[in-house]
Amino acid sequence: MRDDDLRLADLLAALSVTTDLGMGQEPEKAVRGCLVATGLARAMDLPEAEVRDVFWTTLLQHVGCTAPAHETSYLFGDDLTVAVQAERTDSASLRETLALLATVGRGTGVDRPRHLARMTAAGKDGSRGIARAVCEVGDLMAERLALGAGVRLGLRHSMERWDGKGDAYRLAGDDIALPARVSVVATQAVIFDRLGGPDAAVEMARRRAGGWFDPAVADRFARVGAGVLGRLAAADVWAEVLEAEPRPVRRIPRERLDDVARAFADMVDLLTPFTLGHSAGVAQLAGEAAGLLGVPDGDADLLRRAALLHDLGRVAVSGSVWERPGPLTATQWEQVRLHPHHTERILSRSTALEPLARVAGMHHERQDGSGYHHGASGAQLPTLARLLAAADAYQAMTQDRPYRPALAPDAAARELEAATRAGRHDPECARAVLQTAGQRPSRSRSPWPAGLSDREVEVPRLVAHGLSNRQIADTLVISPRTAEHHVQHLYTKIGASTRAAAAMFAMEHGLLR
Ligand SMILES: [Fe+2]
Repeated sequence: MRDDDLRLADLLAALSVTTDLGMGQEPEKAVRGCLVATGLARAMDLPEAEVRDVFWTTLLQHVGCTAPAHETSYLFGDDLTVAVQAERTDSASLRETLALLATVGRGTGVDRPRHLARMTAAGKDGSRGIARAVCEVGDLMAERLALGAGVRLGLRHSMERWDGKGDAYRLAGDDIALPARVSVVATQAVIFDRLGGPDAAVEMARRRAGGWFDPAVADRFARVGAGVLGRLAAADVWAEVLEAEPRPVRRIPRERLDDVARAFADMVDLLTPFTLGHSAGVAQLAGEAAGLLGVPDGDADLLRRAALLHDLGRVAVSGSVWERPGPLTATQWEQVRLHPHHTERILSRSTALEPLARVAGMHHERQDGSGYHHGASGAQLPTLARLLAAADAYQAMTQDRPYRPALAPDAAARELEAATRAGRHDPECARAVLQTAGQRPSRSRSPWPAGLSDREVEVPRLVAHGLSNRQIADTLVISPRTAEHHVQHLYTKIGASTRAAAAMFAMEHGLLR
């Protein structure tokens, strides 16, 4: 262990707030769930290695939350409204299922019948695809965070039910990884504790025993749960979660912070097909532009990491808002303006990430004070924030957005120059970003990841953007049969079956351009 090694729990507890916000929950639900699950695992006398898997599985239980946002927005309208209700719905309960259905299309006004029709048409396949996307991305995130096979499986099985009626893979009983069986009871307990106190949580666990929940886990929770929840009510959960981590605690070298940040960057960009690869692209531009300006290495590292994590707060806003082709309503615009604030608050929770918080939270500020969320201007904006703002603006212009197509690099450069002349960007920082963008090296060619051929490597990008096999065939000028074969081949190689998993793969390996 080196002096500058980082506690992984310090990082991931903070980043778990991203997943809380992405599920429409209060920003310490995952940490509370993790503490309840760890207490429950210990009360079950599980071996310490298993307690460890329970700890990480529960802390990251919703790390796949952005995976289906595009599909759920299309089907249900506001994905966050539905997520809050769906998470606590026991699908074996007619009453709870009806309550969930009542949220579909809520708040979409005249579009509500359209969402109900889409949901009906999608049927079971639709819900299976959504559940699998969550599980596959959870598994991929655990792999990228090097949390081990037990946590990967725990997250893969996070949507299963003891009675075998889960949406994702229909596993039942002991075939479901134990960390998943403990994690779901604890996570649900935290929700019901908030809604009705510890008694409501215990009653819920008893009711679901043998249906949704492993009866042995539910029974143990019924005995110890009220005490565990009661102790947490007045606790500093952020300190407790570091205390509760099974020993020896996980540490990572400081250099690996980039891998952790990159994994969360990709996870957040999964929120819409428009933003795939955005954060990684901004980080590359900003980091290289900082080098051109002679920014010291330590500051350039900070900027690159802040750039990777700058849009974490996006998850607090519904995917349906980010994908809206027309102008936003006043309420939606207010939500959008708050996303850098959420980023700042998430990063502030971690000792290791706190130094990035201020810069990351300033990525939409403008030199003339016209930006958000602080409305800061001029000298209030440090150089790193100016670089990040210019890199973010340029990169976003080179991607499709729902209200306009992507701009070619030279057109995006002219736009950034015009905004700079109008006083919104720092001229020196904008110039450095444009110089960097103009010199971007083309990606080195083969060997492609997962043994993909030159032809197949186009496929993850197209799948990630939601193209059907037929559209892929047209784009690549191949037969539909060949396209289908390529897509199946891709899924086999990456051990997945969903657009979201293909998108994660494409982002991780830089296959989007
Ligand atoms: Fe942003």
